[in-house]
Amino acid sequence: MSAALAGKVALITGAGRGIGRAIATAFAAEGAAVALAARSRAELAEVAAEVRARDGRALAVPTDVTQDGAVEALVEQTLADLGRLDILVTSAGTAAFGPVADSKPADWDGMLMLNLRAVMVCCRAVLPAMIRQRSGTILNVSSIATKRALPGSAVYTATKAAIESFSRVLAEELRAHGVRVGVLVPGAVDTPIWDALGSTPPRDKMLKAEDVARAAVLMATLPPHASLEELTLLPAGGIL
Ligand SMILES: NC(=O)c1ccc[n+]([C@@H]2O[C@H](COP(=O)([O-])OP(=O)(O)OC[C@H]3O[C@@H](n4cnc5c(N)ncnc54)[C@H](OP(=O)(O)O)[C@@H]3O)[C@@H](O)[C@H]2O)c1
Repeated sequence: MSAALAGKVALITGAGRGIGRAIATAFAAEGAAVALAARSRAELAEVAAEVRARDGRALAVPTDVTQDGAVEALVEQTLADLGRLDILVTSAGTAAFGPVADSKPADWDGMLMLNLRAVMVCCRAVLPAMIRQRSGTILNVSSIATKRALPGSAVYTATKAAIESFSRVLAEELRAHGVRVGVLVPGAVDTPIWDALGSTPPRDKMLKAEDVARAAVLMATLPPHASLEELTLLPAGGIL
């Protein structure tokens, strides 16, 4: 079995289901110890059990990443229990779609808090450890919505575009410290995020979360002198 991440520690938000879960199990399969964060204790326990059943190391830390103090505690617990922190993946995110004209500002707050502010807070929280060890990889999850305008997704798209800009600047701030920052830009992925959304593209044509995980493994396992800063992964079956 290859173990490209042996000895590494990865912290994944949104690790209870969907893309985050697939990335967590893929990183564990590559030998990383994984710290799993999301709100649902039961889902985290399931993912941790799956990792341990394959002789991996997992730490489940129920966390609401919109709470700054909880994010600080998450990073502290990861460092205390797993000893270091090499990779952060911010996959906790949410989507609510509808025309701007039909929306109220209060409808936007959840997406702004989780997709934007919490991602920035998570990135900031891991920096002291990564800068200290002069290495690290941060992967933020954007969306194809930033490249192809999708009516009804204005606020969601704004949060993702902001994270792309944030990541580009952060990458420059950290380059000299040996810490790399990349953005994963997937098209539609068949995950539970679509369950609550009205009309969806055909789910059997979407990417699988495991496809995105393979891209994340590539970004995280490149040698330290190479940084893949943006990776767009689209379904090939006629939808975005
Ligand atoms: N699926 C797609 O088609 C697609 C395409 C492009 C980009 N993306 C992006 O990919 C990311 C992951 O999406 P997904 O499809 O995997 O979504 P998902 O299946 O709905 O999973 C979202 C994860 O985030 C966690 N989460 C939600 N609110 C949280 C909070 N306040 N604190 C901590 N964790 C929280 C959820 O767990 P709890 O609810 O238990 O906290 C869950 O584990 C999102 O940023 C999404 O925008 C998705």
